[in-house]
Amino acid sequence: MSRYQNIVILTGAGISAESGLSTFRGAGSLWDGHRVQDVATPEAFARDPDLVHEFYNMRRSNLLKVKPNAAHDALSRLEKRHNGSVQIITQNVDDLHKRSGSKNVLHMHGEILKARCRNCHKIFDWKKDLTEETTCPTCQTTPSLRPHIVWFGEMPLKMEEIEVALYTADLFLSIGTSGNVYPAAGFVAEIKNMGKAHSVELNLEPSEGQFLFAEGIYGKATKIVPEFVETLLKENP
Ligand code: OAD
Repeated sequence: MSRYQNIVILTGAGISAESGLSTFRGAGSLWDGHRVQDVATPEAFARDPDLVHEFYNMRRSNLLKVKPNAAHDALSRLEKRHNGSVQIITQNVDDLHKRSGSKNVLHMHGEILKARCRNCHKIFDWKKDLTEETTCPTCQTTPSLRPHIVWFGEMPLKMEEIEVALYTADLFLSIGTSGNVYPAAGFVAEIKNMGKAHSVELNLEPSEGQFLFAEGIYGKATKIVPEFVETLLKENP
């Protein structure tokens, strides 16, 4: 009998940092030089769609140049080898978990390689730039397509599945997130209140919610995540 059956893993920008994608907070980060309200709100898109498209077009083309790293690979190995369930909940809009082979991934903040039609609401795989001149492949209207991204003030996606996963977790890992943005920032408190799961924070540095975790491991994700996964698989085959 494995010690942990249902492993739930929340990931944030820190897990993709060593692949070459910027994090959101701190010097050199993605919001550095951009005000959130200029590029990541529905109001910003209504006011200046070209600026918002440009911001996400840049992020989409950057993503296509990078690869998953050893931390993503360790989590996909865990999913393959663990004798129980492994559910990733990611705040990241990149596809690096999927590219490294993880199958159970919930994208709560959307996916940059998808576009959504504002008129017919269809979602499409999308690797090219988007502009206000791009025509919806289904309803043929324009302007219509927007990045399939959850902006500030919008509802995160997959929340019902996420709540079920958190409820059934007996191990909760939080990797590479500063714990600044809700609802994800509140998951560890929910886990603690339910009192059923062990919780571990793996991050470059302690987050503000560090005191809510039972355990903390600090360092670069490409080092600490593979080490943690190897130990977990040995002790918990
Ligand atoms: P943040 O940029 O807020 O935090 C990234 C965390 O990763 C920080 O705590 C860093 O210390 C840590 N970190 C950086 N490099 C690392 C490395 N090599 N190894 C391990 N940890 C590292 O990013 P998130 O917490 O993901 O939302 O941000 C949450 C949300 O805020 C994002 O999904 C985005 C943003 O606003 C939306 O766009 C809706």
